Amino acid sequence: LTLREFLHRLPKMELHLHLEGAILPATAADLARKNGVTLPPHEQVEDLYHYQDLKEFLDIYTAVSDSVITADDYRRITYEMLESCAANNARYVEFFFSPQVHFKNGVTFDTMIDGIAAGMDDAKADFSIDSRIVPGVNRELGPAAGEELLDMILARKEERLIGIGLDFLEAPFPPEPYANLFERARKAGLNVTAHAGESGPAVHISGSIDALGVNRIDHGYHVVTDPVLMQRCKDLGTLFTVCPSTAAVTSPWHDLTPDHPIKQMADFGLRIMINSDDPPMFGTDLGLEYIKCAELMGFTPADFRRAALDSIDGSWLDDSEKASLS
Ligand code: ADE
Ligand code: ZN
Repeated sequence: LTLREFLHRLPKMELHLHLEGAILPATAADLARKNGVTLPPHEQVEDLYHYQDLKEFLDIYTAVSDSVITADDYRRITYEMLESCAANNARYVEFFFSPQVHFKNGVTFDTMIDGIAAGMDDAKADFSIDSRIVPGVNRELGPAAGEELLDMILARKEERLIGIGLDFLEAPFPPEPYANLFERARKAGLNVTAHAGESGPAVHISGSIDALGVNRIDHGYHVVTDPVLMQRCKDLGTLFTVCPSTAAVTSPWHDLTPDHPIKQMADFGLRIMINSDDPPMFGTDLGLEYIKCAELMGFTPADFRRAALDSIDGSWLDDSEKASLS
């Protein structure tokens, strides 16, 4: 068995993937044409999928998201996303989506969830893959808009809506203003996670832990700049969803080498889980993220074993479901 075959066959969890970031170029072109939406100027849609930093990426992510309008559009992108996860031997997927991007286009929360749920059902039937939905609160839009989104999530009473995230531009948008929203979400039984320490500083990681009550951090690479916080996260057992391909663009460490924060985090004993974030938009998929960990950053089979177990533990499955996977 070669290392690549081992990595391919390894049963995986995908816990950090954005539905809209998984829109295939051909699908973006189809949906834009069908819905009369103009994408940014391009020759091939693939040409849009190149960026220098998080801001440039989010502009394209938003423009492509604007082409998703009907419930059937959501069904299609969900099905295609899960098809790729299944092809990479992901057995279980918790995926973000960005409702607030679509509200401005007149799409209702119910339309989105109807379509997404149908795509999840179809993918379960065709690929036996289980998945759950995690709406992301857009930190650029302020806590009041996020509270309205939380109202919709709670009103929908869909069991597969299992948590919330916090995403979009990190730099001038710290976590603390979202403390009340996250407290309300937790009290309502939702799981919580937050993007932090990706393009923003280590204090966004400690702020997310302290103000938002998260034990999961999306990205978190800046933890390596603060040794005290690093030890604290180790003691707390904080779980980090790391995403190599996006990390190389959206955070200051552009080279995926054995010095990269992702490998430093693993070597220090932080609990990391390997994920793909926005796979086609960064020319990757879940399997390739594992290969990059091995071939570029020097992950060993023992590192993968630990990450696999931490991904089961760090998922939001219930305890009996976790036990059946470990
Ligand atoms: N939305 C999609 N991908 C993202 C990322 N890597 N950081 C913040 N927001 C995102
Ligand atoms: Zn993300």
